[in-house]
Amino acid sequence: MTRVHVTASRSYDVLIEPGLLDRAGEELRAVLPGARTAAVAEDETVSALYGARLAASLEAAGFRAGEGSKNLTTYAALLDFLGRNGLSRSDVLVALGGGVAGDLAGFAAATYQRGMAFCQVPTSLLAAVDSSVGGKTGIDLPTGKNQAGCFYQPSLVLCDPALLSSLPEREYRGGCAEVIKYGVLFDETFFTSLEETPVKDQLETVIARCVALKRDTVAADEFDRGCRALLNLGHTLGHAVEKVSAYAVSHGEAVAIGMAVLARAAEKRGVAEAGTARRIEAILTRYGLPTATDLPREA
Ligand code: GLY
Repeated sequence: MTRVHVTASRSYDVLIEPGLLDRAGEELRAVLPGARTAAVAEDETVSALYGARLAASLEAAGFRAGEGSKNLTTYAALLDFLGRNGLSRSDVLVALGGGVAGDLAGFAAATYQRGMAFCQVPTSLLAAVDSSVGGKTGIDLPTGKNQAGCFYQPSLVLCDPALLSSLPEREYRGGCAEVIKYGVLFDETFFTSLEETPVKDQLETVIARCVALKRDTVAADEFDRGCRALLNLGHTLGHAVEKVSAYAVSHGEAVAIGMAVLARAAEKRGVAEAGTARRIEAILTRYGLPTATDLPREA
């Protein structure tokens, strides 16, 4: 098992190992010995695939867990669910799902009774390598993505790479955009390994490397006032592309477009070495990701 320790306003471990889902209760119990109830907030799709296994594992570790999970629809519905089931600040909310599920559940955990314990169990590549670590939580508003939210670190992140095998191809590719982002930003050797070996053939190593790189960034700038902004590479334009496309372009695809556009612009302005954009475009294309958009510049 790989264990990456994150040092932040709340410090915690990210555990990475195939089969971890069935040990989720045991690992969570070790971190939260006094918690009685574990509410599970889950994606509808992953609920059918993994919900029962997670509930069984939590119950085996002595959590009251099996009395119903909350499909993630809205923030208000999730808070209402916690209240109606009598959850207290010393209980735990477990997010089983991708980035949207984790962000929403994290925001609910941060604000329910001014903060209850929170555990992330990512089921998408994007969530595993990026959004489940670092404590960014939030929900979208009609005016844009992540417009309401806060920084709130989980108590534990349990990453079971075996859960990612059921990912639809498009979601896998979207996650690869975030993986490539880490290579572009921080680690040329890692970038080269992604050029040579597909992410799916080195999944555990890739997740561990991205989480370690994110850990270092979060430790240096938890509240996003400095170097953490690097993690937004391609995201400013990407968020605009997502919104203007009415979310027809996925987050990962939009980030890929944003990175490619920025690389071309950086090269044109002479702040990136010649050939940078071509290399970034080539790897994005190899992973089936777009590098441009037809959306009008004015929009
Ligand atoms: N996903 C970017 C960050 O956590 O800062």
